[in-house]
Amino acid sequence: YNDAISVDERLQTVCEILRNEITYYDWVGFYFKNGDKEELILGPYAGAPTDHTVIPFGKGICGQVAVSNKNFVVPDVAAQDNYIACSINVKSEIVVPLFVNGKNVGQIDIDSNTPDPFTEEDERFLEFINSNVAEIL
Ligand code: SME
Repeated sequence: YNDAISVDERLQTVCEILRNEITYYDWVGFYFKNGDKEELILGPYAGAPTDHTVIPFGKGICGQVAVSNKNFVVPDVAAQDNYIACSINVKSEIVVPLFVNGKNVGQIDIDSNTPDPFTEEDERFLEFINSNVAEIL
């Protein structure tokens, strides 16, 4: 019966728990590479709906992480020129790539309405979340 819970439902729960439990996580979502296409597709998320359900590689913070394979911490989104705004309330963002067998298959994306809230602890924590998510994909 546990198998009746789909991957999307599990990821939805992960998003909701993170958003509910961590005060400065205001939007939490997963983006995944769309097969062989050079674009990201929005997966499960918690927070305000976004128009950015498809993001080309290289575009915005998310699109840059799809190419760099590295964490991207943005203390102040207003200081970024390659940034896609989802909400005027967002002040900062962190994107951590999601690796399956060493391959970057997507990412977790967190938006915060608080300026400069993310530390290395968030990076390590979100890497840990992603390594566990990789096991259920
Ligand atoms: N801000 C992101 C776009 C996704 S929204 O945050 C949900 C970016 O610049 O890639």
